[in-house]
Amino acid sequence: MNSVGVGLLGFGTVGSALVARLRDQGQAIGARTGLDLQTVRVAVRDPAKGRVVDLPDGVVVGDAEAVVDDPEVEVVVELMGGVEPARSLILKALAAGKPVVTANKELLARHGGELFAAAEATGVDLLFEAAVGGGIPMVRPLRESLAGEPVETVLGIVNGTTNYILTRMTEEGSGYAEALAEAQELGFAEADPTADVDGHDAAAKIAILASIAFGVQVTADDVYREGIRAVTPADLREAERSGHVVKLVAAADRVPGPVGTVAVAVRVYPALVPLNHPLASVRDSFNAVFVQGSHVGELMLYGRGAGGDPTASAVLGDLVDAAGNRRLGTAARLGSMRAARIVPVGEHRCEFMIRLLVTDRSGVLASVATAFSDHDVSIRSMLQEEPGDLDVDGTSRIVFISHEAREADVRATLTDIATIDTVINIESVIRLLPESTPLP
Ligand SMILES: NC(=O)c1ccc[n+]([C@@H]2O[C@H](COP(=O)([O-])OP(=O)(O)OC[C@H]3O[C@@H](n4cnc5c(N)ncnc54)[C@H](OP(=O)(O)O)[C@@H]3O)[C@@H](O)[C@H]2O)c1
Repeated sequence: MNSVGVGLLGFGTVGSALVARLRDQGQAIGARTGLDLQTVRVAVRDPAKGRVVDLPDGVVVGDAEAVVDDPEVEVVVELMGGVEPARSLILKALAAGKPVVTANKELLARHGGELFAAAEATGVDLLFEAAVGGGIPMVRPLRESLAGEPVETVLGIVNGTTNYILTRMTEEGSGYAEALAEAQELGFAEADPTADVDGHDAAAKIAILASIAFGVQVTADDVYREGIRAVTPADLREAERSGHVVKLVAAADRVPGPVGTVAVAVRVYPALVPLNHPLASVRDSFNAVFVQGSHVGELMLYGRGAGGDPTASAVLGDLVDAAGNRRLGTAARLGSMRAARIVPVGEHRCEFMIRLLVTDRSGVLASVATAFSDHDVSIRSMLQEEPGDLDVDGTSRIVFISHEAREADVRATLTDIATIDTVINIESVIRLLPESTPLP
């Protein structure tokens, strides 16, 4: 049996679950892999705090650098989160030739390029399966299994909190605030939900997935982002009526361009997902990533995208790999990440659903149709509704679905529509996901 010393940076939700798994499954892992993974040092912010998993005296310390420097620590697992000191500690470990496993999406989405280059330079592992999709293997399939596949699109529901909220709003008719409060009560949402509901978490994850899928440098700042705060029960009703469901979608497309260049369109926003699309059935706090490749066709990976246990499972898989590779004197290679052109949001193309509240007077439709045609946005369907109970007499609601159009053209259309005196309000603008091969 090969004993491998593990140094842990962070002993919170995921760190505690990992240590418990090493304790309970260490023997079985040893029998299968010949590796005896030993937790030799654990860094925390406050060593005096009570812990849910016991470790021998002296293992838990307050000095994270000392854990990285400890000669007994051969593999470093970073589970503290945040950018600093995690970034400096990982760079230090890699420079010392120690493989690193991390679940830190925020850090990778900001400084992935620098960290991947440092790992390549020293030829040691930097593994991060848990950074996207918790326990769902998403990184390794893209990085290894699909290494020879020209991936065209990565499309995912990668944030469990927002998926839970939207599922409750869709299935129970709750408003956003009510569904958020329920998610907080059940532990699916943080007290400060900003990172989830405003799409920051999903943006970090799709930046990482796009980087691996296309072999290019994409950061969280490159991702066009809209969250779910503005989604209303009326949007969900309209979605249902048109055969869709609203999901917070994170998407990355490889966009055709001149030979030798790579351009990617990356965005996070609430979108109308056709009911026969595989992503439409991803409910509650579950996550899924849908991949489309030129040769492999369509693939989907589905499961629990967060939580201590599922996430520790992904970390443990990486840890076994990193420890085994170290014993063999090898490492997983990510290859070099090329620079890419990030396609500005104005150039993105999709279909749009636009809902207007208008004065019920002749000529309204003609004026609105003129605004669409002035900007080359063609209308696929239009529906005029009777005013609802809460609407003022003499108003009506018109719902347009466009054909695929450039985002900039749709925005210009909306600017013109807003100036039409019979248009009382542009109630909602939601993008549509293209149809996929329908579920059997
Ligand atoms: N939780 C999930 O479901 C999940 C899913 C996927 C990915 N992740 C990622 O996994 C990582 C860990 O998440 P978590 O939920 O386990 O976080 P957590 O519960 O907040 O735990 C963080 C741990 O890091 C320690 N720590 C923080 N700053 C430190 C510092 N400067 N020096 C030493 N120790 C420090 C904390 O010490 P104290 O205990 O003393 O405060 C705590 O033990 C994050 O990158 C997160 O994004 C989490």
